[in-house]
Amino acid sequence: MSEAQNARANAYCPYSGFAVGAALLTESGQIYTGCNVENGSYSLGLCAERTAFVKAISDGCRKFKAIAICGGDASDPNPQKPCTPCGACRQVMAEFCDDDFEIILSDRNYPLGELLPDAFRLK
Ligand code: THU
Repeated sequence: MSEAQNARANAYCPYSGFAVGAALLTESGQIYTGCNVENGSYSLGLCAERTAFVKAISDGCRKFKAIAICGGDASDPNPQKPCTPCGACRQVMAEFCDDDFEIILSDRNYPLGELLPDAFRLK
């Protein structure tokens, strides 16, 4: 979670004012971080979680254990409310992770299978 908080400091969120950070733990123990990166063409904005996944996957990592996520108003340096991943990010997690992949939020840890039951998977 501390890595997610560090990454959150780099969030580019001038449109929503909502800053998110994520830290993705690979099976081999590496951590890939991400932040949200918005765009003036709003729909092009990237979530923190998918930023972290794309960084890891483009580096050749395919196996993941857990992701920590923190987010809240950009003016709040330490938001306490859990920042749950959006539906699109849950689906991207399901592409690369099993149902026991851990999603670490500020209140507790959730297995992916609890936040996205019966996920659609082609493989
Ligand atoms: N956001 C994330 O980065 N992750 C989520 O799971 C939820 C939302 C970002 C997208 C947008 O930049 C801002 O938070 C407000 O929706």
